[in-house]
Amino acid sequence: MKNSIILGIESSCDDTSAAVIRGNHILSNVTAAQKVHLEYGGVVPELASRAHQQNILPVVHQALAKAKIQQNELQAIGFTRGPGLLGSLLVGTSFAKSLAMALDIPLIEVNHLQAHILAHFIKDANPSPPKFPFLCLTVSGGHTLIVLVKDYFDIEILGKTLDDAAGEAFDKIGKILGLDYPGGPILDKLAQQGDAGRFEFSKPKLKNYDYSFSGVKTSVLYFIQKEVKKNPQFIEENLNDLCASVQKNIVEILLQKLKKVAKDYQINEIAIAGGVSANSELRNSLKKMSKENHWNYYIPKFEYTTDNAAMIAMVAELKYEKGDFSDLDINATARYDL
Ligand code: KG4
Ligand code: ZN
Repeated sequence: MKNSIILGIESSCDDTSAAVIRGNHILSNVTAAQKVHLEYGGVVPELASRAHQQNILPVVHQALAKAKIQQNELQAIGFTRGPGLLGSLLVGTSFAKSLAMALDIPLIEVNHLQAHILAHFIKDANPSPPKFPFLCLTVSGGHTLIVLVKDYFDIEILGKTLDDAAGEAFDKIGKILGLDYPGGPILDKLAQQGDAGRFEFSKPKLKNYDYSFSGVKTSVLYFIQKEVKKNPQFIEENLNDLCASVQKNIVEILLQKLKKVAKDYQINEIAIAGGVSANSELRNSLKKMSKENHWNYYIPKFEYTTDNAAMIAMVAELKYEKGDFSDLDINATARYDL
């Protein structure tokens, strides 16, 4: 890999992030998370784009300063083109275009989902990168996919969620339990003090490689409504056990299907990616399952799981090597398939 110096910019949802990469070494990865959405219990698109506008310049400056790189040393600008919130994507896209134009260097568009998957190729993401072909369970707030990665840019979707994404399920159930947004990481933390065997929730019965999480959410909701009627303090008194049981249920759903795909495709290189791959139970269960099934598992370093610009810079680096550049009149796109 050539050691090109590239700036990556990510602004698809509620994190404004910039990173500088040289080859596959991350020199800096700076993220400003937006707190404005907390009181609304979810991301408010208008507030997100306004916060991106406020954050983007300081975040980029900080990323360059941390990397000890001058603007004129940059060889290309990579940015998230989609999928995501259009207003948010537009901020990163127009910033990246202007900077590429001002510096007269190539502009490189990046698919956010591809970036979550290819984050595994960042030098310090794993002790060693996965070998092609590998399976990657890609689980975030907006997507849940099992993909077959045959090469960097040859990725086939084998299964996906038919309704809610896994992260969305964590967040919606978190809301039912009265947790702040996003509920996923909070639920994970509380679950560590809880008994995961205490409560049983439903599991979908889909025959192929697809997922469904809306039934799980509804089964938790009905159960809670029933119990709270009998005891108004039910949630408070059982919160840790509820979190642990919900988490176990979601992780089992995710991994059972992954195991089926691995068996059918006879692949033992298994990776996870995306925000939900930060989940401690998913990480632990994958390790256990990998030992039982003789898989080589790949769990990215924590900072490359939730939204970050390092992964955008990594894909930009791979595209730069191929000379795969974008026109300066390229537009952001809210929907963007792999
Ligand atoms: O990849 P990401 O940062 O953004 C999207 O592209 O969607 O993923 C965010 C999602 C949220 O739903 C969040 O609750 C979930 O990842 N998440 C977690 C954990 N950390 C983040 N879910 C469960 N356990 C965690 N530790
Ligand atoms: Zn993401």
